Amino acid sequence: MTPTAPTREEALALLKEFNKTDRAIRHALAVEAVMKHFARKHGENEVKWGVIGLIHDLDYEQFPSEHCKKTAEILRGRGWPEEYIRSAVSHGWGLCSDVEPTSTMEKVLFAADELTGLVAATALVRPSKSLADLEARSVKKKWKEKGFAAGVNRAVIEKGAAMLGVELAAFIEEVIAAMRSVAAELGH
Ligand SMILES: [Fe+2]
Ligand SMILES: [Fe+2]
Repeated sequence: MTPTAPTREEALALLKEFNKTDRAIRHALAVEAVMKHFARKHGENEVKWGVIGLIHDLDYEQFPSEHCKKTAEILRGRGWPEEYIRSAVSHGWGLCSDVEPTSTMEKVLFAADELTGLVAATALVRPSKSLADLEARSVKKKWKEKGFAAGVNRAVIEKGAAMLGVELAAFIEEVIAAMRSVAAELGH
């Protein structure tokens, strides 16, 4: 029997079962918003892309040293479709998994994951602390400061944008717009 597609409600409940910190939940919501934005843009399944964004870091809070592997284990245990598991795990390509992003959905996830962190961090150091008036060029400026949000792997974002064949500034602009749509939930 083919497993049925998980709903957003199921994905959110699972996320909250394994993640208790605001940081983890907000990151999941940010990546979900970006995934939905690009699903819409490409005429793809918004629920599916959003669900994968929500649960991509499912294991990270509890099992950081087994990141990606535990997510696969948990989702398999819950009967999730293999396609969803593969896509979630592909965000850690070269870092915690050897699953290369191949579909547009996987490439967007790979490129946007770290970028949401840099966008959020850049918004926070500005006077308004808000996403509302954040521009891509502010993010680009912070890009070059290696000490700023040092945990954000710029190389991964560049690699992801190249895989998608998109220009970085334009991609940043879209990620900001997507995150703006859920600014209240993200605390911005
Ligand atoms: Fe991750
Ligand atoms: Fe992530």
